[in-house]
Amino acid sequence: MIRPETALITGGTTGIGRELALQLARAGTKVVVCGRRQEMIDEVVRAVPDKIVGISADVSDPDRAAAVVAEAIQKLGSLDLVIANAGFGINKHASKLQPSEVVQVLALDAIGACVTITAAIPHMLSRGRGHLVGISSIAGMRGMPTSAAYSASKAALSTFLESIRVDLRSTDIKVTDVRPGFVDTPLTKKNKFPMPFMVSAEDAARRILRAIARDRRVFLFPAPLAIAAWLLARMPRWIYDRLAALLSPDRGATR
Ligand SMILES: NC(=O)c1ccc[n+]([C@@H]2O[C@H](COP(=O)([O-])OP(=O)(O)OC[C@H]3O[C@@H](n4cnc5c(N)ncnc54)[C@H](OP(=O)(O)O)[C@@H]3O)[C@@H](O)[C@H]2O)c1
Repeated sequence: MIRPETALITGGTTGIGRELALQLARAGTKVVVCGRRQEMIDEVVRAVPDKIVGISADVSDPDRAAAVVAEAIQKLGSLDLVIANAGFGINKHASKLQPSEVVQVLALDAIGACVTITAAIPHMLSRGRGHLVGISSIAGMRGMPTSAAYSASKAALSTFLESIRVDLRSTDIKVTDVRPGFVDTPLTKKNKFPMPFMVSAEDAARRILRAIARDRRVFLFPAPLAIAAWLLARMPRWIYDRLAALLSPDRGATR
């Protein structure tokens, strides 16, 4: 799909989602963004008022996530592109992680994203086309230290997208699994560990939209982290466990 006419972006009010919304809208796509904070929705809508509309919703509630897709179809008349982008992470050593935090991360990053994608499938099937995109992460390719819930949720999303892609293979619905490395956004501002090869949100959005236009199945970026992630994914467990524990931001928490 070169330029979609219409798009829904969950978490489209800050960071990567906001940049995706702005770049799509400036290229002529009608975009629905969703997020929880109305003031952030208003700010992105004001940037391109004739192309962007907002929906205030918490998509960690699966019923609300499905309703957002229905509302977006109602507002735009159709949906060519759905980007399940809303997500957040908690960086905590397993010894400090709370059960409620695990639930929060999985509810948004895994369940919210998978429900958003699923809810759009019947509409796209009825139109005979569309593009489903999930913003997963390089962190989902292995169980990263201090990121148990986040890594697990992104692994779940990536696996989900792969299954959907196989199921929809004989249709004109495309599926893209985006796995960014570090991107400079409010999400990463709070990180206290080194974040090599970080790219700006603007640059990330440009790369993601290019990958979508090229119907990429899986898109990892930037290249140096993609190569590192590829190697990590193939590393024997006995080496990975030692290396990851050594590089952990909370090394020695249980010593
Ligand atoms: N930044 C990175 O380095 C990086 C790397 C790999 C993958 N990713 C993934 O990229 C995606 C975007 O991340 P980002 O860095 O751009 O984060 P961000 O700047 O914190 O943006 C998150 C967006 O999601 C919305 N959101 C959060 N919780 C929500 C909820 N329960 N319901 C609806 N909307 C919600 C936020 O708005 P409200 O708070 O107002 O709801 C905001 O619009 C996430 O899935 C993240 O895991 C990021």
